[in-house]
Amino acid sequence: MSVLTADPDAAAPATRLRIAPSILAADFARLGEEIAAITQAGADWIHLDVMDGHFVPNLTFGPPVVKALKGHATLPLDVHLMIAPVDPMVAAFAEAGADVLSFHPEAGPHPHRTIQAIRAHGMRPGLALNPGTPVAAVEPLLDDVDLVLVMTVNPGFGGQTFIDGQLDKIARLRGMIDATGRAIDLQVDGGINRATAARVVEAGADVLVAGTAVFTGGPTAYAGNIAGLRGDGAAQMAPP
Ligand code: DX5
Ligand code: ZN
Repeated sequence: MSVLTADPDAAAPATRLRIAPSILAADFARLGEEIAAITQAGADWIHLDVMDGHFVPNLTFGPPVVKALKGHATLPLDVHLMIAPVDPMVAAFAEAGADVLSFHPEAGPHPHRTIQAIRAHGMRPGLALNPGTPVAAVEPLLDDVDLVLVMTVNPGFGGQTFIDGQLDKIARLRGMIDATGRAIDLQVDGGINRATAARVVEAGADVLVAGTAVFTGGPTAYAGNIAGLRGDGAAQMAPP
């Protein structure tokens, strides 16, 4: 065995795995308390799914709710926009307190301009790829984003089944991101549970979004649910 392979740090991931619970699966009547509970339970980011009813076939919330939650949050707010157009809303999400602002390239003809606007407003820009969107959509923009989000379900709803075919996309993006030498987060969103978490992490993901798998079982289950997604085999997860 070589010295390199004997070094336990040699196999360590470059960045720590972060868990970003999606509040889409939380109790909407108690969102402030839900955010406090997932923070206490060991979450790293808070994932907020903004849907407009025409880019995706569902409608959630906008900047006023994000702003209200900012007042309850000590963790970064990771805002996933499923809206079109994006540019007229960038300033409002910055004012609301978004830390990461991700959008889908299909939302408008000038994604690079949108990235510039997000950064100019002091947020970290992310590009979200639908299951049918090729890696090529992010390639010319990779040097300009801080996060790539791979959707492993079609956007719009929680509780859907993980799409296996996206694992190859995650692995390819891992290689492309490493080649940049920049700290770009590789986030996966949709159908993440204990089993699929292990597979996407093996493929190279370092930020996991999970709604159903975190919020199932209520507040007393959250710490075990989050630990289970991190690969803690002893963690108790609430049954789905
Ligand atoms: C879907 C959203 C996801 C969703 C994930 O459009 O982007 O963040 O809440 O939900 P689960 O983890 O239940 O698949
Ligand atoms: Zn999302």
